[in-house]
Amino acid sequence: MPAIGWYNGICGNLSEMTIPMNDRAVYFGDGCYEACLAVGTRAFALSRHLDRFEHSLKGLSIPFCPDRDAFIRTLTDCLAAANETCSVLYWQVSRATAQRTHAFPTGETAPNLLITVTPKKLAVPEQTMKLVTTEDIRYAMCDVKTLNLIPNVLANEHARRCGADEAIFVRDGFVTEGSHTNIHILKDGVLYTHPTDNRILPGVTRAILLELCAGLSVRVSEQAFSKDALFSADEVLVTSSTLGVRRTAAVDGTAVGGRDPGRFLMIRNAYDHLFSEEMRV
Ligand code: PDD
Repeated sequence: MPAIGWYNGICGNLSEMTIPMNDRAVYFGDGCYEACLAVGTRAFALSRHLDRFEHSLKGLSIPFCPDRDAFIRTLTDCLAAANETCSVLYWQVSRATAQRTHAFPTGETAPNLLITVTPKKLAVPEQTMKLVTTEDIRYAMCDVKTLNLIPNVLANEHARRCGADEAIFVRDGFVTEGSHTNIHILKDGVLYTHPTDNRILPGVTRAILLELCAGLSVRVSEQAFSKDALFSADEVLVTSSTLGVRRTAAVDGTAVGGRDPGRFLMIRNAYDHLFSEEMRV
């Protein structure tokens, strides 16, 4: 099946859908989004994504507050229309369609809802990641999942050109997160991860990881770690909704991790188990 697009109630083949030029997403990236994995019409950790979406809308003062059940029905209808075994469910809301002015438009405007469902092959969990570090040049609102992703786009392209899979942002010598992932390390049995402040996106997978660690008696320290710590870590972990929990084989061309495979596998298996249970796969 082709990917599905949905815009303000109109559904069609994604490659044929269009949006108005005056949608403020076009001029300003004035909106926020979510992305999660779905199996059939079930979206993984959907309520957590909806909670974060509300946080983003609030952060941008976008008055989009549909009834949650009705909203879930719309998302589920799109998944049903796509009829995919596995897909990425993406949705974004922009502030309005209006003539270009920086300040919020006045008068009768309403937010725009855009949804896409794109086919996705389930990631092979054993596949390791190659990462490259890059300066974190982003602003102080990284906890809001806005459409403004230029530093992330440039960082990810830098990774691609280096033959790597993902870029790690480093700010003042400390790892914040990846261009579209969260980064964690295991050292001496403790999982270190950047605290959830305005410098990182509070990843849904990160939150699940921390809960699983608690259940597995793996100590967690929500404390930023240095770039150097990546090279002395027992394991370097990458998490995101689309990747799940992954292990890193190299950073900046130097082999890393692989020193605590038992603990890593215990954590990853717990995540994969939870995913399978919730998705009934
Ligand atoms: N990216 N950090 C950033 C900057 C991200 O964009 C993402 C998600 C994450 C991981 O969050 P989660 O575990 O909730 O997926 C961390 C999505 C997948 C994307 O932009 O496609």
